[in-house]
Amino acid sequence: MTTENQQHQGQMALGLLLSPASSHIAGWRHPEAMSNAGESFDEVLAVAKSAEEAHLDFVFLADELCAPDADPKILSRDPVIYRFEPLTLLAALAVTTKRIGLVATQTTTYNEPYHIARKFASLDNLSNGRVGWNLVTSYVPAEAKNFSESSHMGSVDRYERAEEFQEVVSGLWDSWDDDAFLLDKASGRYFDPSKMNTLNHEGKHFSVRGPLNVRRTPQGHPVQVQAGSSEAGLNLAAKCTDIAFTAQPTLAGALAFSKTLRAKTVAAGRAEDSVRIIAGVQPIIGDSPEHAQELYEEMQELIHPEVGLTRLSQLLDYDVTGLPLDGPLPDDIPDTDNYKSRRQLIIDTARSENLTLRELYLRVVGSYGHRIVVGTAETVADELTEWFLAGAVDGYILSPTHLPAGFEVFKDKVIPLLQDRGVFRTEYTGATFREHLGLNRPDLVKIETV
Ligand SMILES: Cc1cc2nc3c(=O)[nH]c(=O)nc-3n(C[C@H](O)[C@H](O)[C@H](O)COP(=O)(O)O)c2cc1C
Repeated sequence: MTTENQQHQGQMALGLLLSPASSHIAGWRHPEAMSNAGESFDEVLAVAKSAEEAHLDFVFLADELCAPDADPKILSRDPVIYRFEPLTLLAALAVTTKRIGLVATQTTTYNEPYHIARKFASLDNLSNGRVGWNLVTSYVPAEAKNFSESSHMGSVDRYERAEEFQEVVSGLWDSWDDDAFLLDKASGRYFDPSKMNTLNHEGKHFSVRGPLNVRRTPQGHPVQVQAGSSEAGLNLAAKCTDIAFTAQPTLAGALAFSKTLRAKTVAAGRAEDSVRIIAGVQPIIGDSPEHAQELYEEMQELIHPEVGLTRLSQLLDYDVTGLPLDGPLPDDIPDTDNYKSRRQLIIDTARSENLTLRELYLRVVGSYGHRIVVGTAETVADELTEWFLAGAVDGYILSPTHLPAGFEVFKDKVIPLLQDRGVFRTEYTGATFREHLGLNRPDLVKIETV
């Protein structure tokens, strides 16, 4: 099948996790980390502008709707407790940046589709077509406690709700033909009624009449991202999203992931490269291999063991805090409904390399299980290029250990190497986020004419 993406071939997509307090769990403690751990908009904006100067495809604001369930004394060492509400921050970035894509997480489990469709449509208009929605189903069970629920919905139900949620949001984004608004002062006609499309959705989880009270947006549909890698997450990405975010620490795993997702995408009736696969990576860049290793170890030493074990327990959905640090991960960890794919990755790493709990938390909590590349700028550029050219990924979401320094060194030293190799742009050629990614603007699906 010929694809809409041919113009994009040969160029990787690059995003930056804009986690002001740091992407590495202890990064905020680094002497060069933002002085106030990201509480200042000016500092956050400076990083977004720097990413735009480097012609990145997007910055990404992750989110969870709760503080982790942990002893406050341990939690008091973890910067994840505080963050800007992502859509509020996105609105501020939409009017203070000009070219870069702006992606934020919003869960389908504790939201209503009308709210999400409306907010992202407004943001797409405000940013002239630069926003993306990272659709998650909430892997942290404690979120339920902030939404009047006694328990967190199971994974199957969450994904079923997510699928219908996504359909409703996409339908609402098609509420108006592109030329529906006449604003004709002479006739007094504000819009053409034949160009209003009322959704009238009735489903298992949602009943939504529509139309959306926001006009169709510059991108038609804001870019949609799916970040789950379980079977259900992959099915959803294959069926309808533009990007799949994933954590893949090995090339073999990334190739297998890409093969599975491409096959599912074709089975869902779409061109095989219509979903951009974007994997997380934590680059640690030194002047020599030894220097890079020293920087990595310096950062790892900042992780307090209690924080390491608590975060590991959250990632495993299994309490390992009372267990001996130098003992193994127990054999009999019960199955869970949360964070399925990433959790399995962590368990597989522990088993295949016989890691102690200390070694395991040091390996995974800093990067949340994402691939870590430690080396010179040349090595980092080589490794990123290798996976890209092997067809394992279409791009990366960078999660430097701390900001701004961790990104600045990537920008100054690695990006020029990627550009020399012809795998990353030297200028923006498009205006919208879809154009950066080489994705077409979706046609409007006409629902009903009133
Ligand atoms: C790059 C990336 C970013 C993610 N960002 C978020 C986020 O902001 N909020 C969230 O609740 N989950 C986030 N996730 C986690 C996924 O939504 C999902 O819960 C996790 O991958 C497990 O999915 P699964 O249950 O389908 O295996 C992210 C995952 C990846 C790979």
